[in-house]
Amino acid sequence: MSTTKSAGALPPTEHTPRPYAGPTRDEVLALRREYLTPGLITYYRDPLLVVEGHMQYLWDDAGRRNLDGFAGIVSVSVGHCHPRVVERVREQLGTLQHTTTIYLHPTAVQFAKALADHMPEGSGLSVCDFTNSGSEANEVAVLLAREYTGNAEVIALRNGYHGGTQAAMALTAHSD
Ligand SMILES: Cc1ncc(COP(=O)(O)O)c(C=O)c1O
Repeated sequence: MSTTKSAGALPPTEHTPRPYAGPTRDEVLALRREYLTPGLITYYRDPLLVVEGHMQYLWDDAGRRNLDGFAGIVSVSVGHCHPRVVERVREQLGTLQHTTTIYLHPTAVQFAKALADHMPEGSGLSVCDFTNSGSEANEVAVLLAREYTGNAEVIALRNGYHGGTQAAMALTAHSD
């Protein structure tokens, strides 16, 4: 993520962020230290306070626009608040906020089929396992690989980040 120092360094955008009236960056940092687990790290000595997003841009508390080169985080690279995504999420939240996989729901199977239809012909990629997070996806991937191969060992890139769950952390060779 790169921060612009002067207006005009990024192409114009039609989006005007709302004025930010929440706690200051220092207050957020202090509250985080007091009330959130120390297990959470920011990866930055001087972390950004992100308060609004639109497409490829993120705004900080001072109204500075940043270009988000990852379009979110690597496990959710869909950009920020795309109007179509926002509309569908609003619609779904107003219809049914949460259910569980022990019941049936049309959207999960329709989405699975849409994804399968999108995969290359003959690839065999036709079955989905939806998860809530990148960490959970990695847990499932390791579980499936172990089940399929019968091997327990997993090779991971040094300094890679795989998430906050047990197997994901065990694969992560970096520290604070
Ligand atoms: C490469 C990568 N793997 C896994 C994760 C973990 O995802 P989550 O925070 O959704 O559990 C992240 C999150 O940033 C990630 O960037």
